[in-house]
Amino acid sequence: MKLSKIASVVCPSPTLTMASRVAAKRESGVDVVDFSAGEPDFNTPDCVKKAAVQALEENFTHYTPYAGIYELRKAFAEDLKKYKLDYDASQIVVSNGSKHALKNAFAAILDAGDEVIVPAPYWNSYIDIIKMCSGVPVVVKTKRSNGFRVTVDELKAAFSEKTKALLINSPNNPTGMVYSEEELREIGNFAVQNDLFIISDEIYNRLIYSKKLLHCSIASLGENIKQRTIVIGGLSKSYAMTGWRVGFTASNTEVATAIANIQSNSTSNINSIAQKAAVAALTLAQDDAEAMLKQFEHRRDYIAQRISDIPFLSSLLPKGAFYLFVDVSKLLGQSVGEYRIETADDVAEVLFDKYNVAVVPSGAFGYEDHIRISYATGMRDIVEGVNRIERFVKENF
Ligand SMILES: Cc1ncc(COP(=O)(O)O)c(C=O)c1O
Repeated sequence: MKLSKIASVVCPSPTLTMASRVAAKRESGVDVVDFSAGEPDFNTPDCVKKAAVQALEENFTHYTPYAGIYELRKAFAEDLKKYKLDYDASQIVVSNGSKHALKNAFAAILDAGDEVIVPAPYWNSYIDIIKMCSGVPVVVKTKRSNGFRVTVDELKAAFSEKTKALLINSPNNPTGMVYSEEELREIGNFAVQNDLFIISDEIYNRLIYSKKLLHCSIASLGENIKQRTIVIGGLSKSYAMTGWRVGFTASNTEVATAIANIQSNSTSNINSIAQKAAVAALTLAQDDAEAMLKQFEHRRDYIAQRISDIPFLSSLLPKGAFYLFVDVSKLLGQSVGEYRIETADDVAEVLFDKYNVAVVPSGAFGYEDHIRISYATGMRDIVEGVNRIERFVKENF
């Protein structure tokens, strides 16, 4: 019996695969420092948990409207106003995490063979989600010398008559880079000129490490850009709510209706209790989110400094999200014990096998010669993990 074509092209998520290797090693008693997970180590804020308990006690346990309860759609719409985005609650569809929001968005706009331009390094799931929606990802490699930001010339080179959409992720996973308003405006104008949808993944919109730099959404840069943009967001990263699975799309009404219809026939509404918890996050947990942001910034400053002090390693200072994208090219072409180090995968393998540090090699993000270190983990682990990476380099190179 033959499975579908989609089943054969979709790969397991490399970050989740690493997470299960970490779990297996820990179960056997090894102290592993896990820099692979893109998940805050903080607890969900208490006010959010209380709202969930209250929802349960009040028997808020039935189906809700499939696009989400009005209160939550309204709360997301209000939150987006901070970024100069004016959406009606009816244009927000609440989904099971932003991953699901992405799947809904691509399902709503792609026909078989439609191309989507994806700048690399990219968050790994984009490629498989596009394929699951019968689309064709067209990867554009950005340059480190341009801070890993895609340029309009690079977009032009990737454009074909089959291009239907382009994807923007700012702040970016895995590089932590943030686009400027001018850059986004140019990209937005390119999309307008070529009649493209823009999928703008803004899941890290709150996690920006500069008082002067407020998150800029491409959809805020003019009505003609907004009309063709589907903003993707969620609570996983900024409110330490990965397990609650709350994300959303914000789009024009036609797209929102299509997305809601798709969702109504797949998952229906997201968990009713999580919806009440999400309202509390957006309306009551601003101080908690601010406190987490401060911690992330402290960790970023520490880890970026320590890594830049290690010979042969370098990275750009991330402006947002919680990842450091470290250039390991100077370690390649050498041997470490029985290991031959030819690629970033080999670096990650030795770090995991010999030094018990889990990182994600950049092949997972469509790029070479880098490893991604997530600093969404406690300071003890950050200090210990960087010490181990330092030892790995100093002992072998
Ligand atoms: C860029 C980006 N988008 C989307 C997601 C999905 O997050 P969630 O589905 O938990 O909202 C992630 C998670 O790592 C991410 O890094």
